[in-house]
Formats: sequence, C-alpha cells, structure tokens
Amino acid sequence: MAKKLVVAIDGPAGAGKSTVAQLAAKRLGYTYIDTGAMYRAVAWKTLQQKQPVTDELILSVVPDIVVDLQYADGQTTVLVDGTDVSQAIRTPEVSHIVSQVAKLGPVREKMVELQRQMAARGGVLMDGRDIATHVLPNADVKIFLTASVEERARRRWQEMQAKGYTMTLEELQHDIAARDKADSEREISPLRQAEDAVLLDTTGLSIDEVVDRILAMCGEK
Ligand code: DC
Repeated sequence: MAKKLVVAIDGPAGAGKSTVAQLAAKRLGYTYIDTGAMYRAVAWKTLQQKQPVTDELILSVVPDIVVDLQYADGQTTVLVDGTDVSQAIRTPEVSHIVSQVAKLGPVREKMVELQRQMAARGGVLMDGRDIATHVLPNADVKIFLTASVEERARRRWQEMQAKGYTMTLEELQHDIAARDKADSEREISPLRQAEDAVLLDTTGLSIDEVVDRILAMCGEK
C-alpha cells in the first residue's frame, strides 16, 4: 500500500481550499483537517459572550475552549465544548472577526498544537494559511492554492447566495481583500507561500481539474 502522506494546502480566503481539499481527501482515503474552522470556532465562542469584541475578550475564552473536528463520510463536524457549530461558524459575523482572533499568539499556539496532534498519524490533508510554513514544515506535499480576488469573491458570493445571505459582490470583495491584508501582514505566522510549496492558481480551472492536479502531486493518477 502507498505511504500515507501528509499534505499541506495554504492560500487566501476563497481560493477553494476546503472544497478541493475535501474532495481530494475523499479520493485518497485521507482525513481532511480544516484549520480555518478551528479559528472560526474560537471566534464563534467569543461572539457568544455577547460583549464588545476585544483582544481581552477573545483571550478569555481560549484557556477553557475545547475545539474538536470530527471527519466522517467526507464531512467535517466542528464541535465547541461538545456543541455542533459546523453551520454557526460560517456566518458573516464570524468571518468579520476571525482575522482578529487568528492574529493572537495564545490562540494560535493552542490551535497549532492540536493541528500537529491531528496530523501525527499521517494520511491527512490539512488546509489553512501557515500549514506548510509553520504547522507542518516537514509535510510530504505542499501546495499554495490561489485565484484572483475577483474570482474568489465571486465564488464566495455564490456560496452565500445559496445559503440565503443577501450580501453584494462588492461587499464580499471588500471583505476578502481586507482579510487577505490582515492575514498576510500579521506578525505571527502570516499567510505566505512556503519556498518549497507548489503554486496552483485556480483562476479559470474547474473543481475537478484542481482536484486532479492535487492528486497528481500526491503521486495518484
Ligand atoms: O479558511 P477560513 O476562511 O475558514 O479561515 C478563517 C480565518 O482563520 C482566516 O481569516 C485566517 C485564519 N486562519 C489562520 O490564520 N491560520 C490557519 N491555519 C487557518 C485560518
């Protein structure tokens, strides 16, 4: 049997990481680990406090929060303190504050430790912003997935429309550009392509084409 690889996929918001990573994981028989969901989980719990969002408030929820990702049948369930928040972490309110949450050292330390534990057994495909550069620098395959900001905003807009949100394309483009900036310019583990990562620009590519290229990089046909 082929060696069970550790695959790291990084890239900006809306590049299609989770969609293609989930499909690739399914075809490889690997576990998919969505690290963005973990930062969203901390953001969700912060909002539950019903207080103005400050760094202090965010840090106050970190010591006790239990974040768990369960992956079965190609689907990820995100649990916070035992509650299923898989849908609740995808709201615009959570998206709006998640970069503020993700820039704080104690948040990242706790999440990165969990992520490394999850990857320890191999046979995983993990996506995020700092997976190849920081979380799993020894990953077997490193991919930096991106697309133009216009295309990324359009994809997110279609996703939000399908969920019944009425945001405009301009609002989403603005939101994505702001998150790109915050995620790339933060002090700790900013979003950047690892030197040994392969760049995969998905602008104009179909989901299947992207998945096929990822499988090829993992030595599959
Ligand atoms: O992939 P996503 O949009 O669900 O990620 C949510 C936020 O979490 C994103 O704005 C950046 C942050 N993030 C991070 O800092 N490091 C990761 N490994 C994954 C996500």
